Amino acid sequence: MKVICTEKSQVLATQLARALKTTVVDVNYSRFPDGEHYLRAGDIDDEMVIVGSVTDNDALVQLMLLADACDRAENRLVLPYMAYARQDKRFHDGEPISSRVVARALSQGVSDVITVNIHDRTVLESFSVPAQDISLAPDVGAYIGTLNLKNPLILAPDDGAMDFAGQVAKAGGWDCDHLEKTRLSGTEVKMAPKKLSAKARSVVIVDDIISTGGTIATAAGMLYREGAKDVSAACVHGVFTGGAYARLAATGIRDIVCSDTIERGCSRIPAAARIADALKKRR
Ligand code: R5P
Repeated sequence: MKVICTEKSQVLATQLARALKTTVVDVNYSRFPDGEHYLRAGDIDDEMVIVGSVTDNDALVQLMLLADACDRAENRLVLPYMAYARQDKRFHDGEPISSRVVARALSQGVSDVITVNIHDRTVLESFSVPAQDISLAPDVGAYIGTLNLKNPLILAPDDGAMDFAGQVAKAGGWDCDHLEKTRLSGTEVKMAPKKLSAKARSVVIVDDIISTGGTIATAAGMLYREGAKDVSAACVHGVFTGGAYARLAATGIRDIVCSDTIERGCSRIPAAARIADALKKRR
């Protein structure tokens, strides 16, 4: 077995290869003069683990090209982050179900797929090969444990993220709650923990994705106004689009971290060990 990866998932792929006690195949990536992607892979094994987060359209194309370059091997696909997964239904007439389009395209030439905290597990059904999702919630919890916060309150930004937050909180036996929006007037909205008070407490807001950072920035502002001692944020997929990290930091958030499903300067939660375990279990 060898590992092969897209350009933007090189660090995670290298750590995964180490965890699997194998190597990463060297790939030359370049472009044709018209911008089309080109790649050429080195020595391919009979069994290949193709690793690449769909962070953008270039990564999506590289993944499809890698699967074809390895077409004489048995290919297992690891998608640490899957963009387009949030368009998992037709919200309006005329829209595509983008998650289905991407899942179908990435099923070509692979025998199975592993995703990490995919936005909605129903997307797994759109792959035409067996697909499973693994969760880094315990790893997010383990990271929070290293912050040595006194009796932290783990908060989900909404009811939908409560399951994830509950798994994070379980790692340290911490309190867990979710934020609830209450409309005070036509223009005023209050956001506060549903059951527990954040007053004088260290709060960690946890979510699967931080994209624009809007959800967490609003929540952090409200929590500070309600007297939280400090607010931190941890997520699996640090998309941080449009300057989101800097904007969040400016709200006074103490610590903003993500995993390395998308490789960032604040990637402090490694995903390799858990992905390696999932790959070994299915062999
Ligand atoms: C939504 O369902 C997700 O779980 C995240 O809460 C959302 O993607 C965060 O987006 P943003 O950072 O843009 O507020």
